[in-house]
Amino acid sequence: MKKKIIPTKSPPTHSRFPLGIASIILITALIMAIFTGGIAYGVRGLIGGEPDEGVMVDGVREFRISARQWSYEPAVIKVNPGEKVRFIITSTDIKHGFAINELGINLYMEPETELTHETVVPIDIAPGVYTMYCSVFCGIGHPYMKGNIIIGDPATFGDINITQVLPYLGTAIMAGIVVTSIILVRRRAR
Ligand code: CUA
Repeated sequence: MKKKIIPTKSPPTHSRFPLGIASIILITALIMAIFTGGIAYGVRGLIGGEPDEGVMVDGVREFRISARQWSYEPAVIKVNPGEKVRFIITSTDIKHGFAINELGINLYMEPETELTHETVVPIDIAPGVYTMYCSVFCGIGHPYMKGNIIIGDPATFGDINITQVLPYLGTAIMAGIVVTSIILVRRRAR
């Protein structure tokens, strides 16, 4: 279908409308990029850092762990095979989970409520870096709410964990959207 284009007196109004939509997309993408960057910054503590070895209380290795959107403090802990371990965990904001598959732990945390859980690290567990993670949906950063539990003395430490790279990947994707939006805005403006 062909239409005759009638030249109007004010051509800018023609291009202003799509430009407005593109601007909204651009601003939204920018906010999302900043937000994702914030999450990445929030979980930065997971990468590297000295592990917390807790304190020995009557032969039990005790950890006090606080949870919040979207991290644990401490985020890296260390235990040994065959050891009795006690976790005293508290959420400082909303509902969170505390799960370690290898230790059969999956706890539900109510805000501002201290929870104590005792367990024994299996004596025959392979030394390694395992994951402690949030098992209760708690917002956009939930998939990144993770920590590391080092069991024994793994021969290799510092393997790249995909969950630690994800927030940065997310930021890169958002940055890509921002760049694409800028290109689109400029194209439409022509
Ligand atoms: Cu904290 Cu999900």
